[in-house]
Amino acid sequence: MRLTILGGGGFRVPLVYGALLGDHAEGRVTRVVLHDVDAGRLRAIARVLAEQAAGVPDAPAVTVTTDLDEALRGAAFVFSAIRVGGLEGRAHDERIALAEGVLGQETVGAGGVAYGLRTVPVAVDIARRVARLAPDAWVINFTNPAGLVTEAMSRHLGDRVIGICDSPVGLGRRVARVLGARPGEAWVDYVGLNHLGWVRGLRVAGRDELPRLLADPVLLGSFEEGRLFGADWLRSLGAIPNEYLHYYYFTREAVRAYRQADRTRGAFLHDQQARFYAGVAEPAAPALELWNRTRAEREATYMAENRETAGAGEREDEDLSGGYEDVALALMRAIARDERATLILNVRNRGTLSPLDGDAVIEVPCLVDASGAHPVSVDPLPDHATGLVCAVKAVEREVLAAARSGSRATAVKAFALHPLVDSVNVARRLVDGYTAVHPGLAYLG
Ligand code: G6P
Ligand code: MN
Repeated sequence: MRLTILGGGGFRVPLVYGALLGDHAEGRVTRVVLHDVDAGRLRAIARVLAEQAAGVPDAPAVTVTTDLDEALRGAAFVFSAIRVGGLEGRAHDERIALAEGVLGQETVGAGGVAYGLRTVPVAVDIARRVARLAPDAWVINFTNPAGLVTEAMSRHLGDRVIGICDSPVGLGRRVARVLGARPGEAWVDYVGLNHLGWVRGLRVAGRDELPRLLADPVLLGSFEEGRLFGADWLRSLGAIPNEYLHYYYFTREAVRAYRQADRTRGAFLHDQQARFYAGVAEPAAPALELWNRTRAEREATYMAENRETAGAGEREDEDLSGGYEDVALALMRAIARDERATLILNVRNRGTLSPLDGDAVIEVPCLVDASGAHPVSVDPLPDHATGLVCAVKAVEREVLAAARSGSRATAVKAFALHPLVDSVNVARRLVDGYTAVHPGLAYLG
């Protein structure tokens, strides 16, 4: 079985390959095709994978290509994890937003809108090619902003595109851990949009254990989201939000911290990753060791400013690995082998959240088997959460409309309607600022 990875020169590819190396069962992936627009990055990552595969007799064969159509033909699964505009683009997204006093995070607020505007046209082109060249393939979308990009692709691929994210998985795992439940036996009642969802319950043997967590300040202080949001606020909400809701509930503090930081996340990663890719290009470089070291630093510094404003301290060791690749592999196995699994995924709503239409991509527990991912029915969200979900979905729809029409006014509308952009004038200046630096936004006339 063949897996094609778009963004195959990307830094997280060895995580996926490492997970594949541990899979020896019938129906596993036997061939991996890496596609990237940058041949140098492909060479670097191929070296890391070769070191990972050393001594593994049934390691999936790896080939690389910069020809997208060639990469797609014959694929059973297509993973898409691309970054349009690279980390330089991410750093621009942050800098331009922060200069206006609003958030430039890659998926939340103005930064997410900017990133979405330049990623959607590329994702749509990929989706069209998949529909033509590999109509039976399943597309697993990691590309951020993942919910929006999945929805853009679903207009061409229907339910054959499924979006994934490690954040809700990690959250569910942490909540289960502090409650002493084994992740496999706990039902995580989670719903929302990507990077905008809430755990409202955790059922073990039919009993909701979340009230026990909410009532216990010691337990609440013992995991990432508990420390990030604080016990009092979690008790007020009666739910545990996805970590990305920190940007909504503590906007002022997050903006201040990000403005005061020496470098934005994008600028930091840009330099860090440039050092890694240059290092691996050296003939005698220990590629895997360099990758491991770089990854450890990247993981340890994830959301550092948010944790700092909350006094949340360092991340826990258990939270530093086993997210992204686990959900990708679990999804692929469930589909390819018809092994029923329950996974939190980004799929079309189909009536799950009644305030949204059926085609809106949401993030929700799904039953997965060979026929795909099917959202389970969930209780409605409370009004405050429905309000945010509807507002952000409306912004996503404006992004999709702008990407289709090329209308600058629609792009302004997308920024202006975002709950974290506080003036139409700011939105106008953001569009001017972003179109001035991003070649990928040249289509906005
Ligand atoms: C989490 C999110 C991903 C995101 C990543 C960013 O895993 O769920 O959507 O890509 O963090 O991490 P980074 O190291 O790029 O800041
Ligand atoms: Mn994510």
